Amino acid sequence: MAIITKRLPEMNWERRSSEEIKKRVFQALAENRNYRNEDVLGFPATYLDEVEFYEDAPFLEQAAFLSAFLANPNHIGCHTLGEDQSEQAFKGTQRLEIEVIRLCAEEIFEGEKGKQDGYIASGGTEANIEAMWIYRNYYREAFEANDKEIAVVYSKDSHYSIAKGANLLGLFSVPLDVKEGTREIHSDAFRKALQSAIAEGLRYFIVIMNMGTTMFGSVDDIDLITAVLEEEGVPFRMHVDAAFGGFIYPFSKGKSAYSFQNKHITSIALDAHKLLQAPYGTGIFLIRKGWMQFVRTEEASYVPGKDYTLCGSRSGANAVAVWMILMTYGSKGWRAKMDMLMAKTESVCNRLKHAGISYFNNPYVNIISIPASEIPEKVARNYFLVPDTHDESPSWWKIVVMPHVKNGMIDRFIDDVHGFKQMTFK
Ligand SMILES: Cc1ncc(COP(=O)(O)O)c(C=O)c1O
Repeated sequence: MAIITKRLPEMNWERRSSEEIKKRVFQALAENRNYRNEDVLGFPATYLDEVEFYEDAPFLEQAAFLSAFLANPNHIGCHTLGEDQSEQAFKGTQRLEIEVIRLCAEEIFEGEKGKQDGYIASGGTEANIEAMWIYRNYYREAFEANDKEIAVVYSKDSHYSIAKGANLLGLFSVPLDVKEGTREIHSDAFRKALQSAIAEGLRYFIVIMNMGTTMFGSVDDIDLITAVLEEEGVPFRMHVDAAFGGFIYPFSKGKSAYSFQNKHITSIALDAHKLLQAPYGTGIFLIRKGWMQFVRTEEASYVPGKDYTLCGSRSGANAVAVWMILMTYGSKGWRAKMDMLMAKTESVCNRLKHAGISYFNNPYVNIISIPASEIPEKVARNYFLVPDTHDESPSWWKIVVMPHVKNGMIDRFIDDVHGFKQMTFK
């Protein structure tokens, strides 16, 4: 593995034993109102179906997450805004969610103590759209902006949820070209795009920065983009899409401009259902305090504290799962796990290099993108590599080096690429 000297953020959350984790989760569940033996008359919900998911299964006593799943707490609302601002029936598990948000914002992204809000969203898509929704409403409220004056600016390698969000919110999209070889946003092209957007009447900007794009794992040069925005003197709000990179890049890269120490960053989206290996339905939305108010839905009159999220009702078990995983590893354990994943990624890169197959890889992210001309489509499809497009011939295929990707799998893949190439060239 290459020796990289990195200055690491001061992450320091302790790992806990499985007994401690179990005890805390069962305690949190006990602090919730229990549909089985306590009075709950007004909710349109209950525990999971009692025939299919029976509560007296003996293993449940040992299974904290499954018990939370069966108990089915609803985490509607945004709990970091204050405990009295949330549904009291589920305050036990909501406290675990508050701890997750605090840990991600303060330990991983270096936010000041108690200065961030957030919630467990359904995924990266929701967390990205939540940010765009907040900034659109902010421009409307603070500047009396018309939606036609607000633009969402993002690299064309950004996830499609950004275009989806701009479409939903009625905002103008400004996708930026990237350099083919490095996937970097071209600063001159960015400046030109900004100037022509201004010439077309756009005055307020929502800028999305990627910490790990979907197809390439590339990380946008946030300092360069910020410098251009400041030189042009336009009002902007910056959101980081760390749905892929959020649980790896801060650990593999160390300190970077991607943290709440950077005054230009207002919000960050993460996905726990990608690298953290939490169940689907666990995106994480983080934002500086003072911003959630722009999406307070006054009409949510039956929700204590009102609702600020896109999704409304959501499973508290998801928050429990994320909390359990983070506590199982502690910051040192998670860093060690990410170091191993990056070592494996580097070894795959080396094998590709030896095999004469070219690729793109950000050395801090576990995605390897291979030009389609380098490998036969049949082999790529056999191994479920993901193409950049299903609409036409792909230009790229990607490998994501996840924990299930073993050396033998890579060896077989490279052998198959070779075998196929030899057959084709005979
Ligand atoms: C960079 C990035 N952002 C956002 C998303 C959307 O995440 P989700 O599918 O969890 O909504 C993805 C998903 O792959 C992603 O890679």
